[in-house]
Amino acid sequence: MKKVFAIVTIAALVMGSIFASGAKEASTMSSVDENKVTLNSNTPKGDLEIFSWWAGDEGPALDALIVDFKGDYPEVNLINATVTGGSGVNAKAVLKTRMLNNDPPESFQVHAGQELIGTWVDADRMLDLTPLFEDQGWLNIFPSDVIELIGTDDGIWSVPVCVHKSNVMWYIPSNLKKWGVKVPKTLDEFFAVAEVLQAKGIVPLSMGTTWTAVENWENVALATLGVADYNKLWNGELAWTDPKVVEVWENFGKLLDYTNKDAASLSWQQATDMVVGGQAAFNFMGDWAAGYMMTTLKLAPGTGFGWANTPGTTGAFQFLSDSFGIPKGCSNQDAAVAWLKACGSKSGQDAFNPLKGSIPVRTDADMSLYSAYSKSAADNFANDDIVGSLAHGVVANEGFMNDFNAVLERFNESRDAKSAAQASKEIAVSNNMAN
Ligand code: GAL
Repeated sequence: MKKVFAIVTIAALVMGSIFASGAKEASTMSSVDENKVTLNSNTPKGDLEIFSWWAGDEGPALDALIVDFKGDYPEVNLINATVTGGSGVNAKAVLKTRMLNNDPPESFQVHAGQELIGTWVDADRMLDLTPLFEDQGWLNIFPSDVIELIGTDDGIWSVPVCVHKSNVMWYIPSNLKKWGVKVPKTLDEFFAVAEVLQAKGIVPLSMGTTWTAVENWENVALATLGVADYNKLWNGELAWTDPKVVEVWENFGKLLDYTNKDAASLSWQQATDMVVGGQAAFNFMGDWAAGYMMTTLKLAPGTGFGWANTPGTTGAFQFLSDSFGIPKGCSNQDAAVAWLKACGSKSGQDAFNPLKGSIPVRTDADMSLYSAYSKSAADNFANDDIVGSLAHGVVANEGFMNDFNAVLERFNESRDAKSAAQASKEIAVSNNMAN
């Protein structure tokens, strides 16, 4: 018996020490797990740099979110670092340099979808936020489709603060009445109305710099292809050289014929101003334009400005979402986690979105705080077919987006639809989006 006991004891000791060392390793691993965010009960304090492109006219919503944050975390010194330029054209370049130099901000704005996953997550630069999602109950409060766009099999990588719609056409109702034109519902109707407007010396469609043209391209692509084929373009099932895609470029070329000549030098706000000022009849732009018209220009939705889906896209919602993540190497994780808690909170989202023109991601937001425009967008989001935006990072990685700008600029000069389709195919292949 003694002998057996001794053997069992030795075995137990050996096993015990294996388990003990295993447990120790596991706990060491979890406390220094560089891939996952660490939650604790520390009071967040010190410097917190948040990085975005919400500067100037785009700032009021972010300012409201920051006020909400400061109420909860008074000991944090929030540094609001912004690089101006719509859709992050300049901010993303600055961010890339900082990330490559190992000088990341504590948290930065990034679009849900491929801009996040195909760029920063693929490069292994982000912290997995799954523990935070579990802790905050967000898995039950954010729509599962949105969570899919910010997650992979290995984790969840950012906190979405808003949902924007990119296929919106803006106009001033009294101006359309004065010019005797109706809101066009299809591309053909749009082209017919555009002829009438052009004959009167009115710019039918105001456009700004290249990224706004890309956004208009995605609107035309959705109108020309329809929801199913539009989605197939991004999952590789529809070839970029397919005649249907060539037709997208042809329609886009027609659209360009009705835009202002100085588009390349205008910001998206200046393109909106052309509509508000009566030089142009329509503008296709994401619904941050509603935020600009309501919050900055003080126009009333419905009377001061009107909206409709971009022609040919009724029943579809071209989706994008701004989110914030935490890069690896973040020097104040406690404060960054606090910031993300504010971004995902009900009070944070209800402070930010009514001013921004976007709708909340949370399904329990207080919609009585939102404008007539946002209520209509929320209704569309609940009922329409959701497709992803190209210009705002959902369907393509940053490599493709940058190359696509060049393809579009060349098309603007050549108006050669077939070569643009061929060039798009080549950049889809070189950016790992098609074979
Ligand atoms: C988008 C962004 C919006 C808005 C817009 C114009 O990419 O998601 O929140 O900022 O650019 O800059």
